[in-house]
Amino acid sequence: MDGQTPHKRLSIGDFGKGKAPIVCLTAYTAPIARILDPIADILLVGDSLGMVLYGFDTTLHVTLDMMINHGAAVMRHSKHALVVVDMPYGTYEESPEQALRNVRRVMSETGCAAIKLEGGAEMAATVKHLVQNGVPVMGHVGLLPQSVEKTGGYKIQGRGDDGAQKVIADAKAIAAAGAFSMVIEGTIEPVARMMTESVPIPTIGIGASSACDGQVLVIDDLLGFTERPAKFVKRYAELAPIISEAARTYAAEVRARQFPDADYTYGAAKEPPK
Ligand code: KIV
Repeated sequence: MDGQTPHKRLSIGDFGKGKAPIVCLTAYTAPIARILDPIADILLVGDSLGMVLYGFDTTLHVTLDMMINHGAAVMRHSKHALVVVDMPYGTYEESPEQALRNVRRVMSETGCAAIKLEGGAEMAATVKHLVQNGVPVMGHVGLLPQSVEKTGGYKIQGRGDDGAQKVIADAKAIAAAGAFSMVIEGTIEPVARMMTESVPIPTIGIGASSACDGQVLVIDDLLGFTERPAKFVKRYAELAPIISEAARTYAAEVRARQFPDADYTYGAAKEPPK
């Protein structure tokens, strides 16, 4: 949490209100987990992987098996950050029992410390059931990507008095149900501030201003891979042209029979064969 690389993996007890801002990033694969693990406090294996890695239009096509496979890869290749795995659409909304059954699979097959699920007051009973059964839960309120087909798209939440009251009530309900933290996605600054001030657990914002207790970004957005990023995305790097240039150089060398040369060849003959 102080920018140093601690030896012990962070646990939910390390995250509280009034501490240093929480640094959270998504990670879906082993190489990215290895790079981000010493830097981030929380690695979120988000169901955004359905759009980012698999090229779906929404997160609604993500399966439990996908989340388990990526969650396990991130766990195997991290040792410092708290790893949180998203519950995908259709695996927890039906009943608290359905949620617990699927959460147990995710936790036992990945070894992750906590899960995240989307929803406000309507999910409070499920969050409570999970917490009572020993599951650390990160909530997710505000803009809910798994509900975009119901709500008519990726719209900023919390506008107007009624909108603000709704998302604040959602945040309070998830906190009261026992979540250890919550993501606030896609809301305006004054509402994010009121939500953050209304709950005793840390809030982690994405498109929700600096009023939150921490921030999360999708790693591919941060690295410049996203073609039409949202307003809140800051591109800290532009990796696509770097990858493209490396692949072009390789392609040119292969076509010119320059790669592989002797340095990259087992038992290379001194002279090229006639
Ligand atoms: O799936 C995800 O990556 C998320 C973050 C955007 C918070 O839920």
